[in-house]
Amino acid sequence: MVVEVDAKGIGEHGNKLSKFLCRDVFVINPDKVYWQEGDNIDVSTESFLVAKDLEILSENADKQKNSVSFHKNKTRLPHWLDLVLFKKFGAVYSPEYNRYEYNLDLNEQEVKVYLGTYFPRSYAEAFCVFDDLLSNHNYLNILNGKPQINILDYGCGTGGELIGLLVALSKYLNTTKEINVTVVDGNSNALNSLREIASELKSRTHHNISLACIEKTIETEEDLENMIGDSLYHFVLNSKMVCELISKKVIADNAYSKVADVLTSLMAEDGILYMLDVTTMDSNLRQFYPRLMNQELNEYLSNNKSFATLLPLACSSWYSCKEACFIQQTFCVSHSQKHNDESRVCYRLICRQNFKDKVFSENASLKDCKHIIYPTKFEQNDLSAFCAKSINGTNIIDTYNINK
Ligand SMILES: C[S@@+](CC[C@H](N)C(=O)[O-])C[C@H]1O[C@@H](n2cnc3c(N)ncnc32)[C@H](O)[C@@H]1O
Repeated sequence: MVVEVDAKGIGEHGNKLSKFLCRDVFVINPDKVYWQEGDNIDVSTESFLVAKDLEILSENADKQKNSVSFHKNKTRLPHWLDLVLFKKFGAVYSPEYNRYEYNLDLNEQEVKVYLGTYFPRSYAEAFCVFDDLLSNHNYLNILNGKPQINILDYGCGTGGELIGLLVALSKYLNTTKEINVTVVDGNSNALNSLREIASELKSRTHHNISLACIEKTIETEEDLENMIGDSLYHFVLNSKMVCELISKKVIADNAYSKVADVLTSLMAEDGILYMLDVTTMDSNLRQFYPRLMNQELNEYLSNNKSFATLLPLACSSWYSCKEACFIQQTFCVSHSQKHNDESRVCYRLICRQNFKDKVFSENASLKDCKHIIYPTKFEQNDLSAFCAKSINGTNIIDTYNINK
């Protein structure tokens, strides 16, 4: 049996309905959804009222799906890194979500599981994002002109995202650079691993990399500000850390905007902040991290006009939006222990407004496009795949494809 519901705006709630009913809910149009009860849909019966609609919908959707160009989201660990992690350090692939929701207190053995399971994911996310970004010629020219590049990784842990960025820089920047890296984290076991991995990388890149490790636990909001000297950074990374500051109530409220406020102040004129987090729900706040991140960062940026969103393009276009929307991107990494291991994250790139205007000249027609913010839902023809502000757009684009 097929249950079809016609109700104004119901398409937006496909997701919630699906969770509530424990069934796949299909969105036919903004005001019409359906789901299946029982085992098989008998398409030969008169009762299959929506068959015609669905055929047309899926034909159109297939055409559109094939024409969307998505951002890079798949990679492999470099062979040397695979050997270092799994052979030299005895890293272990063993996904176990509950233990690794909080990582400040990981012991040496647990860090091995982090290295074998979560480090490759963080590596892949950052490598893919920066691989796309560095394909932008204007931006690459600016970096090429610098003798020195400063990087800060705040909440680095074992530094998967840092190594992902450094490998991308080695791929794109052919002339030798002085790369000064500062990392901050409260877990000494994780920092020890990062030091060793960075020294393995040093011997495999043409860049000169120096590393300064700051071991520091953030206990209060004030600690956020009293951390790092007066250097300015071209890349500021913050990966999967704010969720832990929220879950342990280290920062009582607006954690994303408070961390962003501190980190943007450390950005060079042409610096980029990469802020990424998991997409699960905070059990105290009963709110999903992407919703918190989006709402807080939009609010922060609308009060701090000298900074702007670079990605996602939807938040860059509708910069005064106040929606707490759910964004999710899937990345895949392959290595010797697992083929196509998936991670689901939400992220934002922020830079200075005048740098963005100069380097990433924006196509005015972005506001006429329908932006995919949740590709898995796009595959399922679900309306929650799109940024709500862009729902009337015509041309469908991936809102994370900076090279659209
Ligand atoms: C999920 S791990 C992320 C590690 C790495 N950035 C990545 O993406 O793979 C979170 C990191 O934040 C650090 N962290 C959490 N709370 C912290 C705090 N209050 N002070 C300092 N570091 C903290 C943990 O030690 C851990 O290394």
